[in-house]
Amino acid sequence: MIFIKNIKALVGVREGGETSPLRGADLGNLNVLENAWIVLTGDRIADYGEMDELGNEEDGWDQLLALENQADRVIDATGRFVFPSWCDSHTHLVYAGSREREFMDKIRGLSYQEIARRGGGILNSVELLHNTSEDELVRQAKERADEIIRFGTGAVEIKSGYGLTLEDEVKMLRVARRIAEETPLTVKTTFLGAHAVPVRYREDRDGYVNEIINEMIPVIASEGLAEYVDAFCEQGFFTVEDTDRIFNAGLKYGLVPKVHANQMSFSGGVQLGVKYGARSVDHLEFTGPEEYALLAASDTIATLLPGATFFLEMDFPNAKAMIDAGVAVALATNYNPGSCPCGDMRFMASLACLKMKLTPEQAIQAATFNGACAMDVIEDLGSITAGKRANLFITKPMPSYEFLPYAFTTPLVDTIILNGQLYE
Ligand code: NIG
Repeated sequence: MIFIKNIKALVGVREGGETSPLRGADLGNLNVLENAWIVLTGDRIADYGEMDELGNEEDGWDQLLALENQADRVIDATGRFVFPSWCDSHTHLVYAGSREREFMDKIRGLSYQEIARRGGGILNSVELLHNTSEDELVRQAKERADEIIRFGTGAVEIKSGYGLTLEDEVKMLRVARRIAEETPLTVKTTFLGAHAVPVRYREDRDGYVNEIINEMIPVIASEGLAEYVDAFCEQGFFTVEDTDRIFNAGLKYGLVPKVHANQMSFSGGVQLGVKYGARSVDHLEFTGPEEYALLAASDTIATLLPGATFFLEMDFPNAKAMIDAGVAVALATNYNPGSCPCGDMRFMASLACLKMKLTPEQAIQAATFNGACAMDVIEDLGSITAGKRANLFITKPMPSYEFLPYAFTTPLVDTIILNGQLYE
């Protein structure tokens, strides 16, 4: 048992039983318990409360002493905050090498699409991944996993999409499964065969979509390698019709749709995602009132990826209008070598505040509670709730919880606990 006492504030405390994402005013209602304690038993949050409940000078702090005696470990969190671990619901964490040469092309003025048309971009990572063994991919991905854990992340969704052959897509998803087995992260996996059209199908996109539907999805589903099916529904990548066919096939095999939608244009990806009851539609730089109304009336979560918007130097989506319209908004990193080589959820929260004018409360809940909803782990993660998994981090001493997105590069995540165990 771990007993954490004298916590300046427990952040993101919620009653159990909530399974729907937070919308509207609820997103900004961050429940905070000041001068608090929390007890972790096994891999669970057992209980929490206010320090005042544990006694006083007169009764000799009976209950406090009892908890201290029972605990295997007592942590004094004076001046520190306890947050639920981040839930990062959109990443491409498994990839080979890096693409800083394209970073140089970008600085010289080439756009993401121009780099892709010249054979760079996703296809560059596809070749690198093809020439990298599964064990080496695991080694590289574990380094990134360690990095994001130290940023405070406890759950991560990982996509395939740098394979583009059955063999290499399976290789990627196996690596993602090994990240689940060999690290304390909770991992959900997504089959993203429709990430780019591979060179061998350059003149025959339909042929590639047929291969995805007839050869990849059946194998990936039967081997239990993915929970979700995704597609990059965008000009120059996959059309609404392609995505429709892929989702239709995925659903027959029990894969729940997610979609890269409206990143570079009004692609129709949001409309299609909502039609298929996608768990989330992600990116959304090109959206307006029509998309907001559709999303608000649906169960589909709008996952915003401000790190990619920042790195690609695009206009940010109007997150405030989405929230006001009643859309369920989540934040994720999109950690990948092309559009966001950064897996720091705290930085995403800072960008959300600075560039999309979310309040710190909204940003924190979009990156924890709603992120957990966007990867179907809300019954276990995403908030400080008795009975949920003990995934949390303790900050360094800070004046307020707003300090976390404010001091956007200060290393503030101090002690990490995942599955009730200290991560050292
Ligand atoms: O979400 N947009 C498509 N996929 C990634 C970029 C992947 C890459 O460039 O390697 C994204 O931004």
